[in-house]
Amino acid sequence: MTGRLAGKVAIISGGATGMGGASSRLFASEGAKVAIIDRNKSAAEETAHIIRLAGGVAEVFQADVSDEDQVNAAVKAVEGALGPATVLFNHAGTIVIKPFLETTLEEWDWLHAVNVRSMFLMTRAVLPGMIAAGGGSIVCTSSISAVAATPMEVLYDTTKGAVHMFARAIAVEFRDRNIRCNAVCPGFIRTPHGLREVAELTAHGVDVSEAAIAAQQGRIGEPEDVARAALYLASDDSQFVNGVHLFVDNGFTAI
Ligand SMILES: NC(=O)c1ccc[n+]([C@@H]2O[C@H](COP(=O)([O-])OP(=O)(O)OC[C@H]3O[C@@H](n4cnc5c(N)ncnc54)[C@H](O)[C@@H]3O)[C@@H](O)[C@H]2O)c1
Repeated sequence: MTGRLAGKVAIISGGATGMGGASSRLFASEGAKVAIIDRNKSAAEETAHIIRLAGGVAEVFQADVSDEDQVNAAVKAVEGALGPATVLFNHAGTIVIKPFLETTLEEWDWLHAVNVRSMFLMTRAVLPGMIAAGGGSIVCTSSISAVAATPMEVLYDTTKGAVHMFARAIAVEFRDRNIRCNAVCPGFIRTPHGLREVAELTAHGVDVSEAAIAAQQGRIGEPEDVARAALYLASDDSQFVNGVHLFVDNGFTAI
């Protein structure tokens, strides 16, 4: 532990499992008081338990981040318990994998609600407290899918395109209030989401074999690879870094 987030209150949406879980643990070990906002209460409690056993501070607030009332209530509860957030990691998200012509309007609306409306709701709820606290850092999970399309992922790719621009637009509007906003853009990562994506793409005949992933990014990424990049963006180490898209993909998108 080097205390890179000492004194910070960090909200991590989707902080229960996968990259969010790895970030919850890493941010806490770097001194942040961590608030996990996740719909999966039992997994979030497990992650918080691991953090507390290691001597860190973590609280769990159950919410569906696509629901306005639940988000507002969760953020209010975080502020009451830990104080205003000075770090917000908008990580919660999911995926629909289907041939485009089989997708439905309901799936389109649902995925955009979970992946994009969630960022709007969370950021809008957190910003007043963050501004009053003197500033902070927002990190949004985008993806290689914001710039590199995969068959069967039209709905997902468009949500990540929106996240890409959401991060930039927040960055320029709130820079004068000492708020930074950046996107972290993972490649294929070994998480429940990532492994389901690989299995479902394979079932649809898309080659995401170990060899194909190795050719694109050397190996599958680990949740901690992304957590370390998110930590950099969350911490004051990146204090002059604002509005960037930080790809954590070992060169997938560099080719
Ligand atoms: N794994 C990958 O290969 C990969 C690559 C690029 C981007 N991503 C992004 O990472 C995120 C997925 O996270 P992960 O890969 O760490 O996997 P994950 O599935 O383990 O984690 C997602 C977390 O978000 C929570 N969540 C999902 N929907 C929610 C909702 N509506 N309300 C509250 N919580 C919700 C889940 O409970 C879970 O804890 C998504 O934003 C996805 O676009 C993943």
